[in-house]
Amino acid sequence: MSGYDDTYRHSIERPEAFWGEAALGISWDETPATVYAGGRWFPDGRLNTCHNALDRHVAAGRADQPALIYDSPVTGTTRTYTYAELLDEVARTAGMLRGLGVTAGDTVVIYMPMVPEAVVAMLACARLGAVHSVVFGGFAAGELAVRIDHARPKVVLSASCGIEPARVVAYKPLLDAALEQAGHTPDRCVILQRPQCAAELRDGRDLDWARAVAGAEPAGCVSVAATDPLYILYTSGTTGSPKGVVRDNGGHAVALHWSMSNVYGAAPGEVYWAASDVGWVVGHSYIVYAPLLAGCTTVLYEGKPVGTPDPGAFWRVVAAHGVRTLFTAPTAIRAIKKEDPSGDFAKKYDLSGLRYLFLAGERLDPDTYHWASDLLGIPVIDHWWQTETGWPIAADCVGIERLPVKPGSPTKAVPGWDVHILDSDGNDCPPGVEGAVTVKLPLPPGALPTLYRDEARFTRSYLERYPGHYLTGDGGHLDEDGYLYVMGRIDDVINVAGHRLSTGAMEEVVAAHPDVAECAVIGVADPLKGQAPMGFVVLKAGARREPEEVERELVALVRERIGPVAAFRRAVVVARLPKTRSGKILRATMRDIADGRPYTTPSTIEDPAALPEIADAMKTP
Ligand code: COA
Ligand code: AMP
Repeated sequence: MSGYDDTYRHSIERPEAFWGEAALGISWDETPATVYAGGRWFPDGRLNTCHNALDRHVAAGRADQPALIYDSPVTGTTRTYTYAELLDEVARTAGMLRGLGVTAGDTVVIYMPMVPEAVVAMLACARLGAVHSVVFGGFAAGELAVRIDHARPKVVLSASCGIEPARVVAYKPLLDAALEQAGHTPDRCVILQRPQCAAELRDGRDLDWARAVAGAEPAGCVSVAATDPLYILYTSGTTGSPKGVVRDNGGHAVALHWSMSNVYGAAPGEVYWAASDVGWVVGHSYIVYAPLLAGCTTVLYEGKPVGTPDPGAFWRVVAAHGVRTLFTAPTAIRAIKKEDPSGDFAKKYDLSGLRYLFLAGERLDPDTYHWASDLLGIPVIDHWWQTETGWPIAADCVGIERLPVKPGSPTKAVPGWDVHILDSDGNDCPPGVEGAVTVKLPLPPGALPTLYRDEARFTRSYLERYPGHYLTGDGGHLDEDGYLYVMGRIDDVINVAGHRLSTGAMEEVVAAHPDVAECAVIGVADPLKGQAPMGFVVLKAGARREPEEVERELVALVRERIGPVAAFRRAVVVARLPKTRSGKILRATMRDIADGRPYTTPSTIEDPAALPEIADAMKTP
């Protein structure tokens, strides 16, 4: 098989043959005799993901090849771990966890900044067959508490602090506050003390990471079923309670390994850099697992695209470490473009080794696409996926065949993904007509099999709306050539600077303010971050408060409850919200206004004057 069309057709018509062949790229303890049955991939296979990411490469001669390059402009540190060194660290950390009673199937929450120990922690869990759940460092104590209560970890792994360009963020007080709020209590917390800020350790519960690992015996790999969970990653849904996306071991390893050569065109030994955070799915898949499964060198970057110290930061890292493939979010490129519009910083570095720039996390607007293409003179590739899918659904698969670029489109469906655009009756939309972007079942390996401890929500959220199809939550269309255009979410999820957030969760916080009678939070277009949340609030009768004062309080409340990452900075007081006569807030119409789409005033609206008022409020900077 050579070209895209043949490969794609084969993957959809004969998925078992296709993925059975892809499974040969993985080392199995027990080779699966069955590729797909009962809704699960490789149900009788057994393996260990950490073995596939580390041990087998060491055994195959990559012991001295760099596995991980840690580059941290915020601490002025660079450190390289060879495959042998990373394996040693992981085995000892796994031994430490085993000594604390962690065994296969136990959960471990990891709340850490972008330091090598975060990657080591994830792989150490995988080594034991324990299930990690990484919580992004920009979330506040409340969000961490919700995740701890749901995941019920035996152990929490954390650090004394994270480092943002303008401040040191003490993580330990956030962890302590989260554990006060949570009903669940882990047996132990293991804290990595960083020199920038020392954490106070509680006797009997907290352990010092370095000391605990130093005394540990290395642990070997525990063989698990392909269908056993590797991790849980909480992601924003439409309500305040996040969804615990489950990833299995076998399908994940097969799909990610396959994606490295076929989607990204990356070969073993090459340097691959996903400039994201281990707290997001991009970090799980393309900082940690996929590059290591493929025998590449991965880069762990603790810094920002701008301000650490300048907009040349990404280009410095590319040149310094010989990065061949760079993956980041369009917002990062927009941030660089804003500070260095003529690309002078890029010209200071030798970027001749960089072959591809992949972008995902939000829609790649054509302006950003053209700017990056002109600057770098290499293929700039938009690709589309989600936490749930774990790897790209639509992309220009450069390892199979490069397709002509259409700016604004992430190209075509990746092999394995049978994408359909459906109308409200469940019929396929003709080319050019917008509908719900869905994937016909079965989903390929690597996609979520369920939501953690919530099968009913899994079915309700993804499978019920269009029986036989998975609902992505995005809206879009196909063109005459089968190119996909993903235009934005059709639910209450927004994307702020490539971070996925729930407006429903923010509404819950805003509504809790004593002077707020009702509210709506929606995402409005933002030139840098793509979208920014904006609150519309109606005050309680008799609440004689200055709107600016209420706004200040609401902004502080969301930051405290959800975290700075929510970037909730605007809350306007309005006389009324646009609602139907039955009292339902017209969020979809508000979203149309926010995205600049033409909107019609629904006939069921209670007070037609409410919509123009909202439109005016959105226009004010
Ligand atoms: N720990 C603690 N706080 C964090 C954090 C972390 N891990 N990550 C972000 N924050 C804080 C920031 O300090 C900021 O706080 P502030 O309100 O005090 O300034 C807030 O959360 C918002 O952060 P961010 O969204 O990163 O915005 P920014 O204005 O600091 O930077 C960009 C803007 C575009 C440079 C930045 O968002 C970026 O690099 N985005 C790329 C996103 C990405 O990689 N997404 C992953 C999908 S590929
Ligand atoms: P997350 O689960 O955090 O990865 O966010 C997934 C969501 O981000 C998707 O459902 C889309 O709304 C959006 N998204 C990610 N990549 C793209 C892309 N290339 N184009 C358009 N939207 C994207």
